[in-house]
Amino acid sequence: MQYRNLGSSGLLVSPVCLGTMTFGTPVAESDAIRLTQAAMDLGINFIDTANVYEGYARYLGSSGGVAEEIVGKALVGRRDKAIVATKVCAPVGPGPQDRGLSATHILREVDRSLRRLQTDYIDLYIIHWPDREVPPETTLAAIDQVVRAGKVRSFGISNHSAWQMCEFLWLADRNGWPKAVSSQIPFSLLRREFQHDLDFCRKYGIGVTPYQALQSGLLTGKYRRGQPPPSDSRAAEKPDWIWKLDDSLFDKLERAESLAKELGVPMSQYALAWTLTQPAITSPIVGVKRLDQIQDAVAATAVSIPTEHLKQLDAICPAPWKQHDPIRG
Ligand SMILES: NC(=O)c1ccc[n+]([C@@H]2O[C@H](COP(=O)([O-])OP(=O)(O)OC[C@H]3O[C@@H](n4cnc5c(N)ncnc54)[C@H](OP(=O)(O)O)[C@@H]3O)[C@@H](O)[C@H]2O)c1
Repeated sequence: MQYRNLGSSGLLVSPVCLGTMTFGTPVAESDAIRLTQAAMDLGINFIDTANVYEGYARYLGSSGGVAEEIVGKALVGRRDKAIVATKVCAPVGPGPQDRGLSATHILREVDRSLRRLQTDYIDLYIIHWPDREVPPETTLAAIDQVVRAGKVRSFGISNHSAWQMCEFLWLADRNGWPKAVSSQIPFSLLRREFQHDLDFCRKYGIGVTPYQALQSGLLTGKYRRGQPPPSDSRAAEKPDWIWKLDDSLFDKLERAESLAKELGVPMSQYALAWTLTQPAITSPIVGVKRLDQIQDAVAATAVSIPTEHLKQLDAICPAPWKQHDPIRG
């Protein structure tokens, strides 16, 4: 495993990060513990969770905590081998203080996450979503407090665009507060709207850890035009967590898959390897249900995509500025 620098954090992380959003359901606790430990045995040292994750049981405002508890159990006796990322902001209850990026919520949630993770420090504490009600100065001052208390080692951002990251960076610079070292965004061959921001991240030392790099499993070759989804797939088990399967999607998938076949690699490995060719991307976060899916993700790190393929993939799934622009034509 070739470990990579996570932005300017000084942390060396595996080029695949283990996602835990399915821990609880459909991945039961004992399986999730086994999967986490197997991933670490394969060299994955980077684990992504969130205070709200509880698998398919999740609903808006439910209390979460399930995935963090499972990760905590999986890491007993191995904590120092893992880089653990967790997140704050999404609702964990119905009350006004049960969400967001206020100091009250952050200071309360960081302690809950530490308890569930059975640790006294979080390697990477991530702001899950922007909170337009709270000034960024308030949030950064709270992050500064948890870093100074030793509860958090470094801080990252998720679902923010480049201008919002920029605001956090200059406020940090002006006030001596911690700088964001990572950005977690939705990004895959099929979903490139954050493509513009990758160069910004590269320039300012922000490691990008994209989520849904397999587009919830669409980029694995398991879904076929005209056929029902496999019964054990996300499209069958949790259809509201995956895009609708339609002809325009299959047009792209089939063209991309023919290139993967040319290279002799499975579509899942090809799609992850493509993600790793993009600027500033450190480690795609991969959600997994079974051990073979982890092994597949690890194998993807050895796949190299030829330049000619990159051009063809740009034609199949264009970056935003290559798509039709009603003003510039
Ligand atoms: N920051 C955020 O707002 C945010 C949002 C979403 C997710 N995340 C993070 O990103 C992680 C990944 O998200 P995700 O699970 O939604 O997306 P994903 O990684 O694109 O999709 C994972 C799903 O694809 C299928 N799969 C994975 N490897 C496969 C393989 N080799 N062959 C066939 N199928 C395979 C599995 O589903 P089935 O086997 O069930 O089909 C798996 O559960 C989450 O766990 C979480 O840590 C963050």
